[in-house]
Amino acid sequence: MKLILLGPPGAGKGTQAEILSKRLGIDTISTGVMLRAAIREGTELGKLAETYINDGKLVPDEVVVGIVKERLQQEDCKKGFILDGFPRTTAQAEALTATGVEIDKVLSLEVADEKIVERLSGRRECKACGTPYHVVFKPSSKGDVCDACGGELIQRADDNEETVRNRICVYHEQTEPIKEYYEKTGKLVIAYGQEELEDTTKAVSKALGLE
Ligand code: AP5
Repeated sequence: MKLILLGPPGAGKGTQAEILSKRLGIDTISTGVMLRAAIREGTELGKLAETYINDGKLVPDEVVVGIVKERLQQEDCKKGFILDGFPRTTAQAEALTATGVEIDKVLSLEVADEKIVERLSGRRECKACGTPYHVVFKPSSKGDVCDACGGELIQRADDNEETVRNRICVYHEQTEPIKEYYEKTGKLVIAYGQEELEDTTKAVSKALGLE
């Protein structure tokens, strides 16, 4: 399965990608995770990305397309992958098509804007491995450390309310038009995010025909 997950910030793309990755035995390629790793490592890419991410803006297309193309050439991608957070503009979608990589399905995970701020204010992630949590909806069983690796749970720098609102605007202006791009290819499927994580997981499975 070569899958794209689309959706607004906080829709649950990362959470569902983690579940699908385990279920299907394929890796998730998350541009957000890759860019935040570069920021933590203090690389040139990280320094550049930080200025955009902390304002809730998109990192320039040519930068993101470059890192995704390189990742897709790795051996493990041959058996499938889940793209989380890429493509995010029509130019990125066109660049992906131009690589010749055949995508099987594009899942748009839909959540209303007003739910997003509530979700993102409670989100935490592991500083060491990036596993996502929510203080109410998906708490770690170990309190404020990661279930998977014992790392410290932190709040992302771009999860403050002002930046979240900017990210929502950017999504509607620059990312949502991609749905039309993929609708024309017949690969777009839609799932609606639910209050309970398990219900969203069921909706995602159904939309992807995995039930
Ligand atoms: P990125 O990391 O991709 O962030 P995003 O798309 O804004 O999405 P999020 O990670 O915030 O949310 P999510 O949908 O994964 O939700 P999650 O599962 O965590 O990108 C960050 C930044 O990097 C961008 O703003 C941009 O600057 C840059 N960037 C990245 N890719 C780029 C690209 N291609 N081009 C240019 N720039 C790029 O869930 C959210 C919370 O809700 C969690 O706490 C979760 O536990 C909880 N939750 C999930 N599902 C449910 C549910 N059903 N009910 C209740 N709570 C739930």
